[in-house]
Amino acid sequence: MHILVTGGAGFIGSNFIRYILTAHRDWLITNLDKLTYAGNLENLADVEGRPGYTFVLGDIADRAQVGELLGKQHFDAIINFAAESHVDRSILDASPFIDTNVCGTQVLLEAARAGGVSRFIQVSTDEVYGSLGPGDPPFTEESPLAPNSPYAASKAAADLLVRAYHRTYGLPAIITRCSNNYGPYQFPEKLIPLMITNALENKPLPVYGDGLNIRDWIHVEDHCRAIELVLLNGRPGEVYNIGAGCELTNLDVVRAILRALGRPESLITYVPDRPGHDRRYAIDASKIRNTLGWVPRYKLQEHLPELACWYQEHSAWWQRIKAGEYRRYYDVQYGQRAKASPQQEKGSDSA
Ligand code: NAD
Ligand code: DAU
Repeated sequence: MHILVTGGAGFIGSNFIRYILTAHRDWLITNLDKLTYAGNLENLADVEGRPGYTFVLGDIADRAQVGELLGKQHFDAIINFAAESHVDRSILDASPFIDTNVCGTQVLLEAARAGGVSRFIQVSTDEVYGSLGPGDPPFTEESPLAPNSPYAASKAAADLLVRAYHRTYGLPAIITRCSNNYGPYQFPEKLIPLMITNALENKPLPVYGDGLNIRDWIHVEDHCRAIELVLLNGRPGEVYNIGAGCELTNLDVVRAILRALGRPESLITYVPDRPGHDRRYAIDASKIRNTLGWVPRYKLQEHLPELACWYQEHSAWWQRIKAGEYRRYYDVQYGQRAKASPQQEKGSDSA
């Protein structure tokens, strides 16, 4: 099996590549990544140089480059992780979200069609379903799409393109919609790594609004195993929700982090709410459980102390991100600069 993974230098993509290269030692993986501010080759330092793994610097929205890559070699499957993924950034500027998440996905779909791939997996999100009220049942695959942020809207647009390419051209495409991930190598602009790293630095922990928004948490490895199952046994044209049934308020999560690290609750700082902030996400994952036999292995509350330790032990990794130095790894490895804008050369604003 030769898989094209896009966005493999980010959080979930890098965990997926590491997982697959261990679980399927004879598979080949090509990782196409633009190395935006969120792409970090240090996430894959232990995988670099392994037989079967190739990194290609490139943009999924670059029609010529993607066409050339798929024209040169045959891929059995494409798994599209590449995206602008942070809601707060999409509120500041939606344009890169449209370029990558919508136009980039269409470029990949077209190349997949021409290249005759056997599977196209679109890694989507529960955010396309919008927000739930306190007593609402969790999202199923039949829930209407009602995205509220520019990020969510761009992912929903991509999902509709994937659906259309399946219906119109018979492209063997599948969409997965997962809830909030946690785990190693998550960029410290997202809730859990931001709070852990700020707590380790005794910095304030910025909680939006009243802190009572609810997210449904899943370990990244459980997400990766679900994608593996969908790749192997999923039905083309289908959507699979992925979630571990772990609903927590943001305050619950932040307090658990502080407890795990032995830091005081006085570090919690309430800040103005995110505009259009979705109140609650919850996923009904019965379809993937019942049809593909997927079962999550992790529970956030039990795993948090271990996760906090991982970030403590890998402080050099996230400190280089916060300082913007992680971009230099690429220079050393490849002897040239990633095509990033000067703004992207810095670490996360919120980090
Ligand atoms: P991330 O921001 O950590 O990584 C995104 C990666 O995509 C980076 O390596 C970046 O360099 C790359 N990329 C961005 N634009 C690109 C382009 N034009 N061409 C090629 N590469 C490009 O994101 P993540 O959290 O790992 O999310 C991965 C995917 O999973 C996204 O599609 C996201 O929508 C989806 N998702 C994420 C979560 C979550 O909780 N993080 C949950 C559900 C779904
Ligand atoms: O649900 C899946 C989605 O989860 C993915 O599609 C997105 O790519 C991913 O970023 C994530 O989106 P969220 O907006 O839910 O994640 P984030 O970590 O940004 O925020 C989680 C919650 O924490 C949300 O209610 C906002 C809140 N928050 C976040 C940050 C960064 C804070 O209170 N303070 C913060 O500083």
